[in-house]
This record gives sequence, C-alpha cells and structure tokens, in this order.
Amino acid sequence: MPNPNPISAPPPGHRPKPARQIADLPGPRGLPILGNALEFRSPSLHLALEAWAVQYGPYYQLRAVGRRILVLSDHQVVASVLRDRPAAFSRTARLREIGQEMGLQPGLFSAEGDDWMRQRRMVMAGFDPGHVRAYYPALLKVAQRLVQRWTHAAQRGQTIVLQSDLMRYTVDTIAGLAFGAEVDTLGAEGDVIQQHLDKIFPALFRRITAPIPMWRLFPSRADRALARSMVEVNHAVDNFIAQARLRMQAEPQRHSQPKNLLEAMLAAADRPDSGLNDAHVAGNVLTMLLAGEDTTANSIALMIYLLWTHPQALARACAEVRTRVQDCQQPTMEEVAGLEFIEACMHETMRLKPVGPQLPLQANADVLVGDVQVPKGTIVINLLRRDSVREDLVPQASRFEPERWLEANNPAKRLSAPFGAGPRICPGRYLAMSEMKIAMTVLLGHFDIEFVGTADGQAPLERLSFAMMPVGLLMRLRTRTRTTSLTR
Ligand code: HEM
Repeated sequence: MPNPNPISAPPPGHRPKPARQIADLPGPRGLPILGNALEFRSPSLHLALEAWAVQYGPYYQLRAVGRRILVLSDHQVVASVLRDRPAAFSRTARLREIGQEMGLQPGLFSAEGDDWMRQRRMVMAGFDPGHVRAYYPALLKVAQRLVQRWTHAAQRGQTIVLQSDLMRYTVDTIAGLAFGAEVDTLGAEGDVIQQHLDKIFPALFRRITAPIPMWRLFPSRADRALARSMVEVNHAVDNFIAQARLRMQAEPQRHSQPKNLLEAMLAAADRPDSGLNDAHVAGNVLTMLLAGEDTTANSIALMIYLLWTHPQALARACAEVRTRVQDCQQPTMEEVAGLEFIEACMHETMRLKPVGPQLPLQANADVLVGDVQVPKGTIVINLLRRDSVREDLVPQASRFEPERWLEANNPAKRLSAPFGAGPRICPGRYLAMSEMKIAMTVLLGHFDIEFVGTADGQAPLERLSFAMMPVGLLMRLRTRTRTTSLTR
C-alpha cells in the first residue's frame, strides 16, 4: 500500500495535486532495451545527471534495462528523503550484494535497520569529541611526514602529483586510526596492505555500475588479483584486531581512553548490550578506510586548486595561517579550530566540488516523494550539488567566494550538504575537516605555492569513481624561510 504520509513537505502555498507516477516524469530517452544503463558506466555520470536536472527539472526519470529510476535535485525533497532513513530508504541492495560477493565484511555504510543502528552507535563512540581530541597527536605526526615529503620535493624542484601525495596523507591518517598501527606510505614507497586496498574501491564502483556481471562469467586476471587482495586485507584486519585486543588486555584503561578508532570501536562493541562482535568491528575498519581516504584527499586537492586560481583568497588564507599559528610544525588543536577563513574555504570548496555529488538510495516501501508515487524497491538518486550552485538560490553561485561562509545570512548554508544529511550523515565529517585544516596549515605555513594545475593548463576534469576526483593536478612548492614563528 502507498504510504499515506508524503515524506517531503510541500512548499508553502502548494495545492495538493494527484500523485504522479515515475513513468509520467520527463527524462532522457536512452537506448532501446538498455535505456540509460550505459550512462552509469561513465566517469562523468554525475555531470550528466546534473545537466539533466537543468533540462528536466527537480524530478526526472531514467530507465535502465526495464527499471525506472527517480532522480531528485530539489534540496528540500532530497533532505526529506535522507531524513527518512532507515525506515523508508536504505542504501541500494546492489551495493550490499556486490560488497558481500567481493568478500567485504559488512560495515556501517552498507548496514540497514537495527544492525545499522547498533553499528552507528559503535562508530559514533569512536568519533566522540573527547576521543577525537586524543587522536590529534597522531594526525599531527602524519602531517609532519607530509611536510617532510614536500620539503624534499621543494628542495629538488620536483613537481608533486597532488592526488597521489594527499592519498598517502589520508591513508596514513585513517589507517593509523582504524588499524591502531602506524602505516607510513608517505615515507616509504608503498605499503603492502595499501597495494591491496587500492584495488577494492575502484572494483566495487565498476561492479556496481556494470550492466552485465562479466566478472562472474569470465573472471579476468584483475578479478583474480582482487580476490587474492580481499583475502590478504581481511587477514591483515583480523591481525590488527587481535593485536588491539592484546593491548587492551594489557592496559585495561584503553577501554575508557582509547588511543585510536579501532580501540574505541572494540570498547563500544564490548559493552554488554551492544549486540556487536569482532566481525562488526572488522567490517568497520575497512569501511573507515574506504569512506575516509579518497573523499578527504580529493577535497583537499580541490581546495588547493581553487585557492591557487583565486589569488586574493589564497593571500588571505596564507595570512590567516601565518599570523594565527605560532609554530607551523606543531599547530595546536585550538589554533587549527580558530582558522575561520580556512574553514570558509573548505565549505566553499565542498559546495562547488562535493566529492559525493550524488547519493543513490532504494525505497523500502511504497512511498510518496513530493507528489511522485515511488514503488518499493525503486532506486532514487539524490543530487547533492544542484541547488547549491543555482544562481537563483545563491548569489554569484558559480564563483569561489569563501567570504560568504563568514556572513550570518548565507543561503548556501542550508543548500550545501557535502556530507549528506539526516541520521546517516557522514560520521567522519569532523575528522575529515580536521585533516583538511591541518593539511592547509602545514602547506601554507611551510611553503609558498609556485604552481597548481594540470599539465595541459585546463581546469582538472571531474572523474567519478565512487568518490569524485579531480584529474591530473600537479603542484610545485618553494620552502618558506621563516615558518616557525609569527610573521605579524
Ligand atoms: C571530505 C571528506 C568526506 C566527505 C565529503 C564524506 C561524504 C560522505 C557522504 C556524502 C556520506 C553519505 C551520507 C548520507 O548517506 O547521508 C558519507 C557517509 C559515511 N562516511 Fe563520509 N565523507 C568524508 C570523510 C569521511 C571520513 C574521514 C570517514 C571515516 C573515517 C567517513 C566515514 C563515513 C561512513 C562510515 C559513512 C556511512 C554512514 C552511515 O551510513 O551511517 N567519511 N560520507
């Protein structure tokens, strides 16, 4: 039966109309039988979805091999769908199915219902502000390794491959917290576990969007390598958990004062009524890595690029870091928290370039979304960027103007949702923002930027591979001579 309660509030002054069916909505034609299925393979799928939202409006349909998919871009409707979880909407069954088939232990991102609620409690315990404060020294240590790597490059006049170095920074940070063991991909050329992890995310995305499961019919050499990597990674995670358990047995105070995410999750799982075990912790160790690496690295890369192409904003950001932070080798948590303009640049970057521009969900029951009847099982793709870059909703919407985030009346605040919304909003958002601010502090505190851009001088393309990434960004730096004292 249709849900009698529309899950999105109608706009003021709206007169109820008879519900529309998805089949009544406009949308791109696509191919016979396949419909728009091939578009889902495109690395610029998100741009196509956004362009269709401009053409067809806030509700439109896509077709993929006989199924109708609803695409939403109105921020109020999207927010109401995201809020109505876990009851009315879940992540897609395909994500769960492909993840399981690959051998990924289920974690928070793909969990549903009561299982999700229990895991969410455990993961949120790890992101408790008191615990995150305890992780700060570990974050700083990795940032210092980034400075060493970039100092080395600056002294030799080497060009930095931005994406790759920032991935090392976020991998080392998240892996350190999630494994409870030091991982040093910044210092060393590749870590064994890293080589395995690198295969998982792209494979998951490729398989989710594949119209035909070729890996089941004709497994390729890459598919076999992926299966081996999954075994290695799961084995390594089990070892990390066993080591953490031994540490916690030897030092029981780690239960109340965990030193990393892994210990915090184990402590939360050990509570008598948690309903969780080590398999849940294992699933979430990998979830943290997959959800926290590319997203944060890509956001930092985009922020550096946008600052470089907006010299006034870059000058203001440099001035803020260089006057507010006493010692750029050891910025304190309070100093980093006080970098208001850097924070504004971060929000503006994520408004214009959210690394998760779309969020596909699946209806758990027949529901009404706005005035559209959505049958159980329908995939609903939520576009998170469209309204926050609309000129009629945000003044000078297409321009990078971080100052807008310092104003009390900034319409973008209620439109931009780079971390999602509702009960499943990204639990790693404060950690991600700390990583971003620390990276900017050490970059602007230690170096002058000489160049950021692509080899052909064009703006970097946006490529979707689960997270959206800028393609081919390079950077050259010069070491500043005075970095450790105030330059007032
Ligand atoms: C700039 C960096 C990041 C961005 C833009 C980002 C964005 C997102 C988005 C859009 C979602 C979906 C939210 C929803 O369904 O409403 C999400 C979920 C999630 N993120 Fe992040 N994320 C970032 C960093 C991180 C980090 C650092 C971690 C962990 C260390 C993390 C862990 C997760 C997890 C576990 C979920 C699933 C939550 C759930 O389903 O309950 N993310 N993130």
